[in-house]
Formats: sequence, C-alpha cells, structure tokens
Amino acid sequence: MIQYDFLVIGSGAAGLRAAVGLAQHGSVALITKSSVGEGSSEHAQGGVAVVLSDEDDIVLHYEDTIVAGDGLCDKNAVMTLVDEGPHYIKELIGWGAKFDMVGDHLDFTREAAHSVNRIIHAHGDATGFEIVRALKEYSTKIKNITFIPDTFVIDLIVNNNEVFGVTVIDENSKEIYPIFSKGVILATGGAGRIFKRTTNPEVATGDGIAIAFRAKATVKDLEFYQFHPTALHLKGAPAFLLSESMRGEGGILRNINKERFCFNYHEKGELAPRDVVSRAIFFEMQKTDAEHVYLDMTHLDCNFVKNRFPKIYNTLKNYGIDITKDLIPVSPAAHYYMGGIETDIWGRTNITGLYACGECACTGVHGANRLASNSLLESVVFGARSAKAAAIDLKNKKVTSFDIPINKYSDCNIDKDKSELQEVMWKNASIVRDENSLNEALNFIDLKLKNTGKNAVCRNCLEYFNMLQVAKLMVIAAKNRKGSRGAHFRKDYPEKIKENWHIVFENGEFNPII
Ligand code: FAD
Ligand code: SIN
Repeated sequence: MIQYDFLVIGSGAAGLRAAVGLAQHGSVALITKSSVGEGSSEHAQGGVAVVLSDEDDIVLHYEDTIVAGDGLCDKNAVMTLVDEGPHYIKELIGWGAKFDMVGDHLDFTREAAHSVNRIIHAHGDATGFEIVRALKEYSTKIKNITFIPDTFVIDLIVNNNEVFGVTVIDENSKEIYPIFSKGVILATGGAGRIFKRTTNPEVATGDGIAIAFRAKATVKDLEFYQFHPTALHLKGAPAFLLSESMRGEGGILRNINKERFCFNYHEKGELAPRDVVSRAIFFEMQKTDAEHVYLDMTHLDCNFVKNRFPKIYNTLKNYGIDITKDLIPVSPAAHYYMGGIETDIWGRTNITGLYACGECACTGVHGANRLASNSLLESVVFGARSAKAAAIDLKNKKVTSFDIPINKYSDCNIDKDKSELQEVMWKNASIVRDENSLNEALNFIDLKLKNTGKNAVCRNCLEYFNMLQVAKLMVIAAKNRKGSRGAHFRKDYPEKIKENWHIVFENGEFNPII
C-alpha cells in the first residue's frame, strides 16, 4: 500500500504553497494530473493585489474587496486575506520570486475596482509564471515532498465522514490504485472548461468540486461564476486573456463602431468591477449586432506598451495583431469560480481530514464577484493556512490503509460530448441567464448524466462526468437565485437581491439549501 502523511492534490500556487507548509510536519505527496505547475496559476498575467505600498492600507483593500463582491463576502475571510497577504508575499520574495521594480521599489499598477495602485507584477504580464517558478524551485529542494505528476485523482476515500486518502489513475501505466494518508488538501483549481469560451487551461474541469461533492462535502455559492471582460476574439485562436492591467494602464474599450461605451454603464468606465464591464460588453455587442468589441491601446506610448506587456505583445504578433497599432478584437470569457468547496478561514471542510484552498475552495473572500488579482493572493494565504490547520488537526492521527474496490481502466472518446456541454453552458448559463435558458441547460445535463455514469474509467471520461456534475450544481443554484447579484445576472429578474443569503449543497445531494 502506498501511503504518505499528507496528500496535496494540484500543483498550482495553492497546492505548491500548501505542500511547502506541510513538509515540516511529515511526508507529503503532491499529486497532479498533468505536469507539475500546469494550471491557471502559471498563466496568470496581471498580478497580485497586496498592500505593500506606502500609499495603501489594508482597510482600503478590505473595502474594495467587499464592494467588488457586491456585499456577499465573508468579512472575516476578507480581513484574513488582506491582513496576512503582505506577510506571505514577502515570504515568496524571500524564496526567490522576482516582481517588477522601479528603482528599489516594487512597481504597483491599477486594475478594475481597486481604489489605489496595489497590483505587483512580474515579467510585465507573466506574474503567475514567476510565482509558480519560484514555488516549484523552492519546493523541489524540500526532501519531504514527493511529486507525483500525470496522476489523475478520481475520488476521495471516505469512511464515516473522515478522509483516508484518494484513488488515482497513473496516466502513463494506466494503473488505478489507492494512496492513503492522514489528510488531503484539495487545490484543484477552477472549472472554466465547462464553458465554450474560457481563459482557463485544459486542466480546469472542476474535478475538486465534484470529488468533494460526491464525498458529501458542502459546496457553496456555485451560481457565482466570473466572466473576464477581455479575451481575444479571433477565428481559430483561443480566448487568450488580455489582462485587465491593460485597461489599468489606460486601455480603452470601443464598440464595433469605434465608440467608447463603458461610461454609459458605470461611472468608473473601463475600470468598473469586472462583472459590470463584462455585462456592458455583452449588451453593447447585442446593440451593435457584433460578436466582439475592441480593446484600444494605440493611443499609448508604443515602447511602454511593448515593455509593459511583452507576453501579450508577442502572442498577438503571432496572430497578426500589433497591439501598439491595431485595435484588438475582444469579448468576455469564463475566467474564475467564486463558488466552491465550503471552508472556514483555515481551509477546513465539514469532512474530517479534508481541506481545500485556492480556486476550488469557497472561503467567502470573493462573495458574488472577485476583485481583480485577489486570487493569486488567496492561493498563497489559504494554501499556507490549510497546511497549518492540517498539521495541527492531524498531529496524532495515524495513516490507516485498507482494501477498497478498484475499477479497471477503460478508455473512451468523449471529446464531442465535452464540446456539446461547453456550447450549451455558454449559450444558456453564462453572462446573462434566465429561467428558460437555465432549464434548457439542466435538461441537457440530466440527459447526459443519465447516460454517462462512471462506466468508462479514464481521465477524459471522468473529467467529463465532473464537468457535468459541476454544471448541474451551477445551473440549479442559478435557477434558485431569482434575482441578480454580482456576476450572477438574471434577465428575467434583473433587480438586485439585497438580502444576504447563500445557496449550499450538502450530503452529495442536488437539492439546494437556501
Ligand atoms: P490552479 O493553478 O489552476 O491549479 C490547479 C491544479 O490542480 C493543477 O495543477 C491541475 O492539474 C490540478 N488538478 C485539477 N484536477 C485534478 C485531479 N483530478 N487530479 C490531480 N490534479 C488535478 N489571478 C490573479 O490573482 N491575478 C492574475 O493576474 C490572474 N490572471 C489570470 C490569468 C489567466 C489566464 C487565468 C486562467 C487565471 C488568472 N487568475 C489571476 C486567476 C488565478 O490564476 C487562479 O484563480 C489561481 O491561480 C488558482 O490557483 P490554484 O492553485 O487554486 O489552481
Ligand atoms: C488579468 O490579468 O486581467 C487577470 C487578473 C485576475 O484574474 O485577477
């Protein structure tokens, strides 16, 4: 039997930071379904929101986060994030992460809904790459951490509301086997891939949320999914992210007739909260009967733009767009899941020995809409805190291994079904929803779930099953919030619901509790 003291699932910023924290307390296996580091973290562009400038204050960061979250944030969780953020970012810098500097000071930029310049960044627009690089380098030097890449976690091993390990597929040998441990930290990231247009990498299929739900962990706020306003909209090209910091540095949004429009929707124009800008683009596209709007950087100094956004400049050059001279066709894309596995501010779930951190968790820091650049910060702060909690809670527990039934590996080809689900979710359950569109999505999902089950056991098929389950939870939650709040907008109930309540799912049941 294979066993470790602790298992961390996922090797983005949250998982890597959690593994480092646990390594002082026992053996750690960091299991990840692709190569180590592949995930949304590595693709993050704009930066990290953190109070390190003399002009800033944690109270301001706290207030900006609560306002962007449309009042649905957990205040205690937000205070924890903004208050502990500076400590954990300084620690990362001490471990070798290099952020952009002006002279001997960090360079702070602005993003939407921030009241001051507080976003630090690296390599201009490749902040996530630098954070993951530093965390990978630091953690590979730690003897207690074993990296297990190309290994897909199928399910948690749970008995009597207590976790004892996970079952996995080795993607190379196609073997399926259990790994036992005292505790498990889920850091499996987001679920953008359930939508047709997304900025997320292929691994973002909502696995952790589905795995936790099946294990009867409580999941929360699943109607709140964030759509980033500006992803590349070009035939044959992926929805490559055009960082919000481009608007922070003066970029302007124009409709297809080249007219600036954001101020018609919000007094902060291009720098209004992300949900507001995404909806403004959606309605502007409808008004002008267009599939995209434009992001305009052409009025800014050409060398500044090239040096400030080198990754974006070079990527778009490959698609024949010179961002210093050409208007960039953009439209919104699925980007970040505010909802997830319910945790306290220490990453604890309702299952003994199970913790969650990063994008798959719902600590309550984001409420109904995440403030830009708060999630890399969330990943390191709550990755570290989950590790601390697991180490303390499980100090006296012994790893227990036992025989469990294991399915045989069997291959499947499910690509067409995945694309169909992505189309249906994009059309019916994305930026603007209503009862009819949500019913259409739910009927489709139910039909597919009936025929899918877990008959084929391979990564592709199990990812599809997870995507269907998460999509179902999202649609049921969205149907039950008959009103609009933050990123959840109902065309048939456009009025904002003022009362603060949440939707949760408990005991692995699709019946929402409000
Ligand atoms: P991830 O980094 O996504 O890591 C999840 C890990 O889990 C991956 O290693 C994956 O392979 C693994 N995994 C998933 N399922 C399984 C399974 N079943 N078995 C084994 N392993 C599994 N946020 C900011 O704050 N600032 C930014 O500038 C910013 N820019 C962004 C740009 C892009 C293009 C995207 C997509 C997101 C951006 N975000 C940004 C959001 C932010 O990057 C993510 O929310 C955050 O990095 C999530 O970190 P994570 O560790 O929770 O998940
Ligand atoms: C971006 O660079 O626009 C992404 C920032 C974020 O998602 O927080």
